[in-house]
Amino acid sequence: MIYLKTEEEIELLRENNILVSRALAEVGRHIKPGVTTKQLDTIAEDFIRSHGATPAFLGYQGYPASACISVNDQVVHGIPSDKVVIKEGDIVSVDLGTFMKGFVGDSAYTFAVGEVAPEVRQLLDVTKEALYRGTAQAKAGNRVGDISAAVQDYAESFGYGVVRELEGHGLGRKMHEAPGVPNFGMRGRGPMLKQGMVICIEPMITMGGRAVVFERDGWTVRTRDRKPAAHFEFAVAIRQDGPDVLTDFSIIEQSL
Ligand code: MF3
Ligand code: CO
Repeated sequence: MIYLKTEEEIELLRENNILVSRALAEVGRHIKPGVTTKQLDTIAEDFIRSHGATPAFLGYQGYPASACISVNDQVVHGIPSDKVVIKEGDIVSVDLGTFMKGFVGDSAYTFAVGEVAPEVRQLLDVTKEALYRGTAQAKAGNRVGDISAAVQDYAESFGYGVVRELEGHGLGRKMHEAPGVPNFGMRGRGPMLKQGMVICIEPMITMGGRAVVFERDGWTVRTRDRKPAAHFEFAVAIRQDGPDVLTDFSIIEQSL
């Protein structure tokens, strides 16, 4: 069942995703060599709670933290830990969720720590551009497959891997609603996009092979070949005239 949102509901989803964007910026400001991912999780949780929301991930299917923080070869769902210490040249994917006024915010950004290798910088730039190209397809009358194909075609044109095991999703009163939004697929296929649908588009792109491993901690997803991966996520409302992006990366990038 795909829930179409009213204008009022879209505005509450926007409020949540702007708060997530601000929380991502706050975490991003603290990503420096020597900080632990556990410290970053505390910063995220305090920021979310002090702005009148609760961390949507905490307790979700038993998830033990407020943030997912995935370093280098970790793709998504890295559990914050006092044993994971950030160092120069790392890439750090931060995924945050809020719950406020009955709705959920869910967005993610991959940060570079100081000077990263040029090929890693390109992985970040291409993953973000793949998100933008997918987002450009998020308009009423298109289909989910138009988004999927735009993401896949762009990422694969650089020889990168598109992770198949995880996908984007509808967003609303629940974090995961229909439809699923894969990062691979064919134009013209899948559910039709309609005015009032709100979806999360979240490419997970690998520098090497696309195969992933699910770690024994029950959460962390990493690349099988241990090459780096990037993850960027937007919440987007579908409108007749095109995408209405509810996440604001400019808040994050202004602070970098
Ligand atoms: N943000 C993730 C997603 O987009 C969900 C995080 S899993 C959780 O699907 F358990 F941490 F919540
Ligand atoms: Co998501």
